[in-house]
Amino acid sequence: MPEAEVPHSAAPPFERAPRHVAIIMDGNGRWAAARGLPRGEGHRRGVEALRRTIRAASELGIRFITIFSFSAENWTRPANEVGELMGLLRRFIRNDLAELHRSGVRVRVIGDRDGLDPDIGRLLIEAEELTKNNGGLTLVVAFNYGARQEITRAAKRIAEQVANGSLTPAEISMETVGALLDAPDIPDPDLVIRTSGEQRLSNFLLWQSAYSELVFVPTYWPDFDRAALEAAIREYQQRERRFGGLVAKTGS
Ligand code: FPP
Repeated sequence: MPEAEVPHSAAPPFERAPRHVAIIMDGNGRWAAARGLPRGEGHRRGVEALRRTIRAASELGIRFITIFSFSAENWTRPANEVGELMGLLRRFIRNDLAELHRSGVRVRVIGDRDGLDPDIGRLLIEAEELTKNNGGLTLVVAFNYGARQEITRAAKRIAEQVANGSLTPAEISMETVGALLDAPDIPDPDLVIRTSGEQRLSNFLLWQSAYSELVFVPTYWPDFDRAALEAAIREYQQRERRFGGLVAKTGS
C-alpha cells in the first residue's frame, strides 16, 4: 500500500491535536497475504506499528488513544489465529509494560473480561494497577470488546437498579447510560481512524463516537507510522465540528 502522502512534519506537536484518537487497526491479514506471509506475521508486525503509534501519539500531545485489539466477534476466527492474538497480547504486556510505565503511559482496558483466560485477565489488571497513577498518554486497550455488548451491559445494570428501586425510569438519562459504560471517565474520541481502506465502525465505540470525526486511510495497519498519524490528524483539523449546532469547532 502507498505510504501516507503528507510528508513528515518537522515541527510537531500539533497546536490543536485531538485529545482522544481511537484506532481500528485493520489490514494485518491483507498486509501478510500481499507478501505471501502467514496472517500471524501481519499481526506481529501490527504490534510494531502499535508501538510506533503510541510513541508518536505521546510526542504529538494526544492525551488518550484507544486501540481495537480484539473484538467480541474475533472469536469466530480459526482457533490458531485466536491463539496467536491472545499470545500477542500476553507478550505485549509482558515485554512492553515496564517501558510504557517508564514513559508515563496509563493503561486502561475496555471490553468483557469474562471468557478470557485467567492469566490474561490477571495481566490486564496488572497493567492497569501498575500504571494507574501515571500522568502521560492514556492507552485504552479494547480487548474482547464490542460496542453493542457494552451498551447491553449498561442496559442490564440500569434494569437492575430500576428493579431494586434505586433508580426510576424517569431518572434515566444519557448521562445514566454513559456512566455505566466500560470507561466512563475517558472523554469521547475526537477522531476515529480506520486503516486498510474499509469504511465502517464494526461495533467499535458506537456510543462514544456519536460526534467523532471519522478518517479512513488506505494504509494497512502494519505500515501505519507517525507520518500516517500526522496525515490523519491534519484531515481532522480541516473538519468543522458543530456537534449538531451551527458554530464550527475545529480541533478539540
Ligand atoms: C485486523 O486485521 C486486526 C485485528 C483483528 C487485530 C489487531 C491486533 C493487532 C494490531 C496486534 C495485536 C495487538 C495487541 C495489543 C494484542 P485483520 O486480521 O482483520 O486484517 P484483514 O482484514 O486484512 O484480514
